[in-house]
Amino acid sequence: MPQTSERIKRETGSTRLPASMRAEEYARLKELLLQLRPEATLEIGMANGESSLIICEVLNQLGKGKHMAIDPFESSPDGWAGRGVEKIRQAGLSHCFELLEEFDYLVLPRLVAERKFFDFILIDGWHSFDYTFIDIFYADLLLKPGGVLAIHDTGWPAVYKACRFLETHKRYDRISPPIAVIIPSLVGRIFRRLGQILRGPKAFMEARRRRIEWYSLGAYQKRENYQVPNDFFVEF
Ligand SMILES: C[S@@+](CC[C@H](N)C(=O)[O-])C[C@H]1O[C@@H](n2cnc3c(N)ncnc32)[C@H](O)[C@@H]1O
Repeated sequence: MPQTSERIKRETGSTRLPASMRAEEYARLKELLLQLRPEATLEIGMANGESSLIICEVLNQLGKGKHMAIDPFESSPDGWAGRGVEKIRQAGLSHCFELLEEFDYLVLPRLVAERKFFDFILIDGWHSFDYTFIDIFYADLLLKPGGVLAIHDTGWPAVYKACRFLETHKRYDRISPPIAVIIPSLVGRIFRRLGQILRGPKAFMEARRRRIEWYSLGAYQKRENYQVPNDFFVEF
């Protein structure tokens, strides 16, 4: 494990990502949870514990359930130094929380082998395509039909692409507005806005809802367990 941590540090200069979501995204997360009323929740990427705290607060409010968070850097001094876990403890919510302090690619297959199932999963870990894709792959196996998969930073090109795989190869209904990749240039953004206007009022309003309510948070409800046929592939 430390070897990977060191590798990530060497390759990226940091083991850290921006540590939280926007206030509006946390508000959407809370709404999703209150609507869904989950009992078993899972999160990949805990950091300072903001999203874990919201999830535990909702479970506590509902009077049942348990939240598991996966983060290999939670307690290490050069990681999050235990701040997330301390936040949960201070809120008096440790009874509904469990930290799995390991890498996603080790814990997730183990949870599948243990036949654990979840009503809600939030993916907000390492945002490269390979890690996000693996998180989505295992989340799909771990999520109950009817459960909700939320993915943060869908505007990052690699995360966006992994979400497009989910949209094109799995049976999920998107709850959030259509995801949109971040366009760095102003000209590019103007052209995209024009395209949204040309596609009509519905597309325009959906894109607007994305910009002011959901930002980079995506949410999908699982319709059913589904494995694509052996020879199925569509561009995504
Ligand atoms: C953007 S932060 C999570 C923020 C958190 N969800 C919140 O809203 O408060 C991403 C987290 O992913 C963790 N992470 C990085 N690589 C990971 C991996 N391979 N498996 C699981 N978590 C990982 C980082 O330590 C970091 O805490």
